[in-house]
Amino acid sequence: MSEIKEPRLGYQTNPVQVKLFPTEIESQIEATTKKVRVPREVFRSLSSTTDIITWITEGKYDRKILKLFDDVSQLYELLLCRMEFLTLGDDLSLLRRRAAYFEEVEHEKTDHFFLSAIQGKGQIGHSNQYLTHWFYPYKGKFHGQMVKALINFMGVGKDSLVLDPFVGSGTTLVECATLGVSSIGIEINPALCMVSQIKADSLSIVYPEFRRELAKIKPSSIFEYFRKKPVEGKKWRLGFKEMNKDAKLLLAESWQQQFPDGFVKTLPETWRNLLFLCYLHALSDYTYLKSTSKAMALEEFFIRDLNEYLDTVSGTYRVLQDRHIQVQAPKVLFGTALELQLPPESVDGIVTSPPYSIALDYIRNDQHLLDYLGIDTSELREQMVGLKGRNEEKIQLYRVDLRKSLQEMARVLKPASYAAILLGDVVVGSHRTNFAKEIVTWAKDLGFIEAELIRRPILGGYARLRYEYIVLLRK
Ligand SMILES: C[S@@+](CC[C@H](N)C(=O)[O-])C[C@H]1O[C@@H](n2cnc3c(N)ncnc32)[C@H](O)[C@@H]1O
Repeated sequence: MSEIKEPRLGYQTNPVQVKLFPTEIESQIEATTKKVRVPREVFRSLSSTTDIITWITEGKYDRKILKLFDDVSQLYELLLCRMEFLTLGDDLSLLRRRAAYFEEVEHEKTDHFFLSAIQGKGQIGHSNQYLTHWFYPYKGKFHGQMVKALINFMGVGKDSLVLDPFVGSGTTLVECATLGVSSIGIEINPALCMVSQIKADSLSIVYPEFRRELAKIKPSSIFEYFRKKPVEGKKWRLGFKEMNKDAKLLLAESWQQQFPDGFVKTLPETWRNLLFLCYLHALSDYTYLKSTSKAMALEEFFIRDLNEYLDTVSGTYRVLQDRHIQVQAPKVLFGTALELQLPPESVDGIVTSPPYSIALDYIRNDQHLLDYLGIDTSELREQMVGLKGRNEEKIQLYRVDLRKSLQEMARVLKPASYAAILLGDVVVGSHRTNFAKEIVTWAKDLGFIEAELIRRPILGGYARLRYEYIVLLRK
């Protein structure tokens, strides 16, 4: 969240109080430094006195039957465990296959244990960056594990449809795909439509066949192929007219119009798209790290990233085979969340994170990507939530767009279904916005019958957000 600065919070002392009550202050200091005898029970671990599983399962099971991942440590995570158990808990084998926060069910490892073992760059525990989530370093991804628990809570199954109208780099789609749930993602940035589509499609690559074919060409030749792609030339104008195009079609058009002939172009779509994404990943690494101690040549980034991509594809293939997980392919549309091209009452659940007010310039962040693809961004800026207008007016326009997008979500959601919206409280000027709380006040007018807020503290010294909120809306 680069542009916005946290106000400096100074520590305020009260000199008047210190002057008036010196003896009280001294006795306080004495009290805090005197030696006390601490009974041994104080050091007993929480888990030996309180069984969290009993709380999560409302007394149905204890920790002999279910085990959480060791890194489940925050209160909001425990609540998500309880929420997913509420929906899946009647069938322990289903819980083992789908749960996000449980490591073991009746002494057997869950699928999430194996899926999150396919580790990616920047992974924290079992929460993010596993499988293909780490492909392309997009700023503003949310955590797959949290998304998975929310999808589980919504009780969506094989015949359901989950929507993410601000799909970004496709986290919701990757989670739905491995849960076997159909999903649709909408995104205004065509480059990200492609990224999302490729990340989801790469889950289905048959690694041994891919590897065999790839052995016929040197990594440096693949790099040269993408490097030579004519960057100059006519701009690719993706404006209103092109809206609602499928990302698969965008990718096919891009290959047809912008890539020269060559071995890479003859490969099956999912394979050549993965190589293409790897080049875009390297381009991003190169752009962001070129003036740091981690700087390398673009080709070096590409070769390193390619090896790591192949490790992920091979691990994913193996785990999906071993666990008999059938991937459900998602649909990605280049379109706007402000006018969803979906019929009323057609989706069973929504999990999404809209831009957090005006916190990030999503075009500037991925300018290198848009430039490489030759995409003209002049119309894009006019369409993006959070980038319209200037100064004070910007926040007002954001509010109008956020409300409009929620109205659209309410329209397409089936009755009794849930929408989960993730939003952070960001500082704009000298004011901390909290649009999550505003949404709760709008909920009834928008057509929702229940609204809950789940608060997630943001840890870490550099966080410009204090909290993120999951707004849970029921229609
Ligand atoms: C916080 S990011 C979503 C990140 C995503 N959850 C992920 O894990 O990658 C918000 C996204 O909303 C997109 N966006 C902005 N305006 C939009 C609009 N009018 N319609 C659809 N998407 C839009 C931005 O391009 C950005 O990718």
